Amino acid sequence: MNTINCVAQLRTAVAQARAAGQRIAFVPTMGNLHAGHIALITQAVARADFVVASIFVNPLQFGPNEDLDSYPRTLAADQNKLTDAGCNLLFTPVVEDIYPDGMAEHTIVSVPGVSSGLCGGSRPGHFDGVSTIVCKLLNMVQPDLALFGEKDYQQLAVIRKMVSDLSMPIEICGVPIVRDTDGLALSSRNGYLSAQQRANAPALQQCMHSVKAHIIKGNRDYAALFAQFDTDLQDAGFRLDYVELRDALNLEVAHADSRHMVLLAAAYLGTTRLIDNLIIDL
Ligand code: PAF
Repeated sequence: MNTINCVAQLRTAVAQARAAGQRIAFVPTMGNLHAGHIALITQAVARADFVVASIFVNPLQFGPNEDLDSYPRTLAADQNKLTDAGCNLLFTPVVEDIYPDGMAEHTIVSVPGVSSGLCGGSRPGHFDGVSTIVCKLLNMVQPDLALFGEKDYQQLAVIRKMVSDLSMPIEICGVPIVRDTDGLALSSRNGYLSAQQRANAPALQQCMHSVKAHIIKGNRDYAALFAQFDTDLQDAGFRLDYVELRDALNLEVAHADSRHMVLLAAAYLGTTRLIDNLIIDL
């Protein structure tokens, strides 16, 4: 696998693959790769002939008090994992090439509706940062398909809408959450947890399953279910950020007739913010 950081070289490599009749898949990441990322590469390898990954810790999607500086950078280990998974090309641009005039001067791609509320409510500007960088990377790589993890459910919805609204000829493919054996969704931020916090962390998914079980049994008193969810999470050492039930396709607030829904939650263990989601089909 080649690693390059220059857009011109990226375009040349992709053009050569395309000229050879190859289907191009793209997996954008911020690095510190785990089995969830590798599942994206594995899907990409299965669905395309030439797989491009990127590693770029995008400052535009971090808030002023978030973990941009401490976000783990593990390039050598990531390169080995990508090579083993069958990735053909790794693109590792630098901030100065992505935002040459600085972030404040850069055009922002802002996706209305789905970017609001949930993580967009807790992290103002986050999804503008995500849609801007993903739009740029998609324009640089020009893949046939791009793959994203379903753990970042709202991010996937934002990207799907952006690609549709901007008529980008790219198939967006969501890949199911990869979980540890105890149910915790894999995330680069799990590495911030202390041993005790890591032991408590699966409670997030367990409490979400409990809410789901009540809803499937017919309980529609969401306020009471969410209050109990909050209490249960606090007992496990969490501080709730949000819990909501939304339509699984358009992320609109679920109503009495909704059948295909997604339960989305974010909660803090200490200073580490974890997110998870669970599909609820009635
Ligand atoms: O999900 C991520 O790792 C990032 O938000 C992404 C899509 C690579 C954009 O920076």
